[in-house]
Amino acid sequence: MKIFIDTANLEEIKEIASYGVLDGVTTNPSLIKKTVDNLKKKSKKEIDLESYIKQILKVSKGKPVSLEVVGTDFKEMVKEGKLLYKKFHSAGNVYVKIPVNPCIGEKCSLASDGIKAIKELSRLKIPVNCTLIFTPEQAFLAAKAGAKFVSPFTGREDDYIREMNKLKFKKQDYFPQEGFRKNKKILEDNGIISGVDLIKKCSEIIKKSKLKTEVLAASIRNSRQFREAAEAGADIATVPFEVIKKLLEHHKTAEGMKKFIDDIVPEYARLLTGGK
Ligand code: E4P
Repeated sequence: MKIFIDTANLEEIKEIASYGVLDGVTTNPSLIKKTVDNLKKKSKKEIDLESYIKQILKVSKGKPVSLEVVGTDFKEMVKEGKLLYKKFHSAGNVYVKIPVNPCIGEKCSLASDGIKAIKELSRLKIPVNCTLIFTPEQAFLAAKAGAKFVSPFTGREDDYIREMNKLKFKKQDYFPQEGFRKNKKILEDNGIISGVDLIKKCSEIIKKSKLKTEVLAASIRNSRQFREAAEAGADIATVPFEVIKKLLEHHKTAEGMKKFIDDIVPEYARLLTGGK
């Protein structure tokens, strides 16, 4: 499985890129807002977002960087997608993020505009990451329309199941991939029992249909969910900075490290500093 960082913060991208394990970057309007707000707070002046994004593309060294449109109909999404591509494609790694269904609320006549926009941008050879996926059916249609990546939202699916059933939770809390039992019934969202189950079903439907689209597990909230996304067949996971840091932690690793350091004899220390 490839690992992307889910952030618009250049310093975070640079830090994880320095580990030599980074395969790409995903952003969304909320992550861009967080970064712009922070930059404004620090510098107290207007931000040149275009050159900031160009730096993100540069430090990502040819690895995919997803930038999202904000339009809510076919025309706007295609126009913005083309603009993002034109502005940033010289770096060779920009992917346009298109919501699978741009409707806000239930009643809407534009439900298929996301799929149509994916089809059109793909026809123009603009790579698309289809976002806000909460069903394998959405993933299937986006993949058929030509999306390079489909992004099911793991953590937000868990949130939805918990919210619908009035369970209390914190954002980074683990939710069991095999589902949660309440009053002897497994809680579910139209047959999906957890965020990881959503990843598994999206991966299966795409692989069985022999589509080339990669499943990008988004909205990853903790290290166990990251591991389970890999086991469920995700091709990519996009992970926030703090969660990537957590992937390295274990109590016994720290304890073992302390013991090894305590046990260094002078002879071994001298040897390792080039002495005799
Ligand atoms: C990235 O592509 C998604 O927009 C992001 O992973 C959503 O994460 P969140 O649910 O933690 O906001």
